[in-house]
Amino acid sequence: MCTSADTPSMTPLLPGFHIGPHRVDMPLALAPMAGITDLPFRRICKRFGAGITVTEMIASRAVEFGRERTERMAEIGTDEHPVGIQIAGSDTGYIEDAARWAEQHGADFIDINMGCPVKKICKQVAGSALLKDEPRVARILAAAIAAVKVPVTLKIRTGWDAHSKNVVQIARIAEEAGVAMLTIHGRTRAQMFNGEANWEDIGLAKQAVSIPVIGNGDVVDAASALEMLRISGCDGVMVGRAAQGNPWIFAEIRAALLGQPVSPEALAHERWPVVLEHLLALHAHHGERTAGQLARKHVAWYSKGCSGSAEFRRDFQRLTEWQAQLEAAEIFFTHHETQAELLHAA
Ligand SMILES: Cc1cc2nc3c(=O)[nH]c(=O)nc-3n(C[C@H](O)[C@H](O)[C@H](O)COP(=O)(O)O)c2cc1C
Repeated sequence: MCTSADTPSMTPLLPGFHIGPHRVDMPLALAPMAGITDLPFRRICKRFGAGITVTEMIASRAVEFGRERTERMAEIGTDEHPVGIQIAGSDTGYIEDAARWAEQHGADFIDINMGCPVKKICKQVAGSALLKDEPRVARILAAAIAAVKVPVTLKIRTGWDAHSKNVVQIARIAEEAGVAMLTIHGRTRAQMFNGEANWEDIGLAKQAVSIPVIGNGDVVDAASALEMLRISGCDGVMVGRAAQGNPWIFAEIRAALLGQPVSPEALAHERWPVVLEHLLALHAHHGERTAGQLARKHVAWYSKGCSGSAEFRRDFQRLTEWQAQLEAAEIFFTHHETQAELLHAA
């Protein structure tokens, strides 16, 4: 059972904050993830308790072409406010245009990506490569903020590499420019996704500024969320990879932030209705072809931890027809649902 809508309010561990005019009572964010955090997935995470959602990264140069795919990436739900549209780029002119475009698409805030480690993006001195050029960071932020009425937020890593960590300086630049919220992934660009996120480094930046700071990196459950918050002193928490195939994580962390007991296993029996909802929403949002491709990774993630999931995943990857995918998923997940209920009753 989803606990997000009907939980009685208790004294929360975090007081919440504002992103410009938008009050955030539950400072629990779904991390932007390219190819994953589209509208269908964000909606599900929102319902389970994510208080802030952000679209996947949209290249600032892409917005002028008006491609269907770009438009779809910026589509936001009436039920997901406050929601940000994330843009990336290195040229202030493109950033201004993209920020205005995102504002017109209904974003409650514009999130600027300065954390992406991908070579193709860094080569254009965008994403995390910008961290090496502090004056340019300031120029880009100033340009975006001047271009729109909605608040501008920033997502960064802790620096380019271990020898050039400048998370504190970047945080100060962001605050000075007028950024409304800062999210920090506690890794350097050089780390990519290796090693551990350094929550102490996030804490150094948090101490240096008075704007809301969201901590990110390696939060995988309620316990790690609370530990990250304890170490960093952050105002909120963002979850990425651990939400893949596991939107229930937001119910778990939300409960912990509200000081309520939570048992994530109790939610396992509702997997199939959520998987089905997700698949149908993918189909409606992307059309059958893309939905079929996306279904492969989401269904594989949802099946993790279920007995027989390796064989199921192998067979599922071979299916080419949408209807066959739906049927195979239903057989697999309803079987596990029955088993979970039997275990529960035993
Ligand atoms: C597949 C994938 C795609 C990502 N795409 C984006 C993106 O579009 N924008 C962004 O700011 N970060 C992106 N990230 C980084 C995440 O937002 C997050 O900072 C990172 O995964 C660390 O958090 P986690 O340990 O909770 O996953 C992506 C990460 C992954 C794994």
